[in-house]
Amino acid sequence: MSILNPDLTVHYLCPLCNLPLHLEVSKKTYACQNRHSFDRAKEGYLNLLPVQFKHSKEPGDSKQMLTARRQFLEAGFYEPLAKGLAMIINVTHKHDQIYRLLDLGCGEGYYSRQIERYCEQSHRLLQHGNDIAKVAIAAAAKKQPSAQFVVASSSRLPYSDNYFDLVLRIFAPCDDKEINRVLKPSSHLLTVTPGPRHLWQLKEFIYDDVKEHAEESTIPEGFKLLTNQRISYKIAPNSELRTALLQMTPFAWSAGEQIQTTLSNLSELEIEVDFILTLSRKTPLAIINPIN
Ligand SMILES: C[S@@+](CC[C@H](N)C(=O)[O-])C[C@H]1O[C@@H](n2cnc3c(N)ncnc32)[C@H](O)[C@@H]1O
Ligand SMILES: [Zn+2]
Repeated sequence: MSILNPDLTVHYLCPLCNLPLHLEVSKKTYACQNRHSFDRAKEGYLNLLPVQFKHSKEPGDSKQMLTARRQFLEAGFYEPLAKGLAMIINVTHKHDQIYRLLDLGCGEGYYSRQIERYCEQSHRLLQHGNDIAKVAIAAAAKKQPSAQFVVASSSRLPYSDNYFDLVLRIFAPCDDKEINRVLKPSSHLLTVTPGPRHLWQLKEFIYDDVKEHAEESTIPEGFKLLTNQRISYKIAPNSELRTALLQMTPFAWSAGEQIQTTLSNLSELEIEVDFILTLSRKTPLAIINPIN
């Protein structure tokens, strides 16, 4: 458990007017000077996604996808990835310092929980997470009361500038400018993207012509690449967990009922998983020389 958690000193910004939000004495409501106020839900999270910024009634991943992801992740198949992330964070986190970390598009918070579990200095971590899906954030907050979760879009993060020491982006959409804004100078961005062989055998089942994943660049402008690490291995989930894996991916849309039934009826299927972990550093502020 983190020593200062929950992080009540958090600097949230009002999603309506961008002024700082302050925690009221009741500790139940955040409000800005313009009297816009936001109640903490019973699970402890804050909903900073006003209805006028929603593009649909329930944006983000559906409850079905969330349940499938939680079932699959809790079975431990991606634990080597979680441990790999914790090892990198152990290196970037300087000893004896409070370290503020944002899990961007955190879903139901599996990786945040694993980081608390595996990081050497988890008592000095102040963990935050955002996701546009309210069901995901409610589930994350319930499971990890020591962390601070908000319903908010990653394209409009409700945190002040230069706030975080590390932003973690795992298979989640983002806005490079926002990441840059909320990170302190010289702090870190850690991203996980699918490697070329990720879920190869699952894709072979669905598509006639499977292509290797194009490796996308994950270094936003204003960041410098530090390390690239590939973690790949094979998993053999049982029928139920194979179905959960399919449900949590976008391939589920392409797989018809027949494919899904055949997949779940297989006695065994080995599936490759392949992750690329990229660590980059925000460059320190540029010194601009005045024009003579
Ligand atoms: C593939 S899931 C990854 C979830 C989590 N990072 C993980 O790996 O378990 C993508 C997540 O991004 C969320 N999401 C989609 N658009 C978003 C946005 N604009 N802002 C924040 N989260 C978003 C979805 O609701 C979903 O939880
Ligand atoms: Zn306001």
